Amino acid sequence: MKNYAIVLAAGKGTRMKTDLPKCAFPILKKPMIEYIYENIEQSVIDETTVVVGYQKEVLMDVLGDRVNYVEQAVQKGTGHAIMACKEALGKKRGTTIIMLGDMPLVDYKVINKVMNYHSDKDNDLTVLTTRYQQPKGYGRIIRNEYGNIEAIVEHNDCTFEQKKINEVNTGIYVVSNSVLFKEVEKIELNQRKQEYYLTDIVKVMKDQDYRVDTFELWDSEKVMGVNDLYSVSIAERYLRNEINKMHMLNGVSIVTPETVTIGHNVTIENNVTIYPNTYITGNTVIKSGSKIGPNTEIHHSLIHHNVRVLHSLVFDSEIHSDAVVGPFAHLREHAVIGERNRIGNFVEIKKSTIGDDTKASHLAYIGDTTTGCGVNFGCGSITVNYDGVKKHQTKIGDDVFIGCNTNLIAPVEVGDRVFIAAGSTVTKNVPAGALAIARNRQINKADYAKNLITPKTE
Ligand code: UD1
Ligand code: CA
Repeated sequence: MKNYAIVLAAGKGTRMKTDLPKCAFPILKKPMIEYIYENIEQSVIDETTVVVGYQKEVLMDVLGDRVNYVEQAVQKGTGHAIMACKEALGKKRGTTIIMLGDMPLVDYKVINKVMNYHSDKDNDLTVLTTRYQQPKGYGRIIRNEYGNIEAIVEHNDCTFEQKKINEVNTGIYVVSNSVLFKEVEKIELNQRKQEYYLTDIVKVMKDQDYRVDTFELWDSEKVMGVNDLYSVSIAERYLRNEINKMHMLNGVSIVTPETVTIGHNVTIENNVTIYPNTYITGNTVIKSGSKIGPNTEIHHSLIHHNVRVLHSLVFDSEIHSDAVVGPFAHLREHAVIGERNRIGNFVEIKKSTIGDDTKASHLAYIGDTTTGCGVNFGCGSITVNYDGVKKHQTKIGDDVFIGCNTNLIAPVEVGDRVFIAAGSTVTKNVPAGALAIARNRQINKADYAKNLITPKTE
């Protein structure tokens, strides 16, 4: 017999007040539903079905063919979403865990625990519950005088007394497949909401003397439901803290960790220091000895040993060992920075490969360029790569000195050991070893200034 999961993700998520379907909304740049799927995949579950409806393409795009889909074209409640699965799953024999698509913090251990509990106890239905100090919004667990579960009552349907109950329904249920599809059909329409509540299955089954039981989870943070953008921020804070803690225990020093966001797929070696207000995301790798931040964003990049990046943006780029980048540098679209480079204030480098020991210390734009080693870009150097229609390449050899305020009009090639005079606009290739001066000669007209200036001092 197999273990199945059904994830309910057809709703719009009205309380989010955003356009994206709620379960596709990102938490630390990753869609919520993806977290749930990844944990299901690591658990004892063999097959997953996701119920989709509102903007179903968006969710299907995220999960692709990793799961099966059932469409709930009109969303008439969580019970109705399960009814919609009857055709696809009704004949399958096994145990099903039902989960909601808006609980991104759930982990596979929780899934395995409740699945095991269900089979050990030989239950027909197991409801995963937890306790919140402030249970507002969650369905409450109603117990009889023997302490057994009798029903789940939604917050808005609770009496004043019931609202005081702090044990809540997490939205995770384990149930035998054959029972599920027979009993779910008996759920009646909730008149107030005009929806079929899956929670009502507890009462339906209790009335027929099925074995209905609860499993209480102490770690209540893991099963929080995300309903609005405020709860998105709480889920993000939880995840950020978990990820940062893991890195710190691995020997990464994080200064003011509550201001540092590190994505799931980031690898950081020990002896790295991360300073405040720094975001590191995508498949970024940072090697030991590097110091990153403050106020830095690095996405999808490879940072080698002993690199210093401060107050800068680095996207889809690579920085080799012992380089210093920033303050206020911007590397993007596969900028590759050589060893011991100095990339300084207000320097932008796009789609370029920069040789070792090169300096662009201030105010430069380098795009679509390949340089050799030991190049010096003076303040205000620009590779003029765009003619309004096409991008062109600049090629610079080893040990080239580029004077301040130089324009290199691409396509252009500059040979090894060239010296370019400050203020030049280079439009032709420069052969190795040459001095290039590409500007008008200065003319000094003797005694002419008095025609233009009225002296302020006598
Ligand atoms: C639900 C539970 C509540 C529980 C809480 C836990 C019900 C009636 N209530 O409330 O007891 O404490 O979760 O977080 O089940 N969905 C569909 N189709 C629909 C309606 C919803 O697929 O027709 C999906 C949504 O996309 C969402 C999930 O079901 O992912 C839960 O729906 P939501 O509206 O968030 O339920 P809650 O009000 O939070
Ligand atoms: Ca919810």
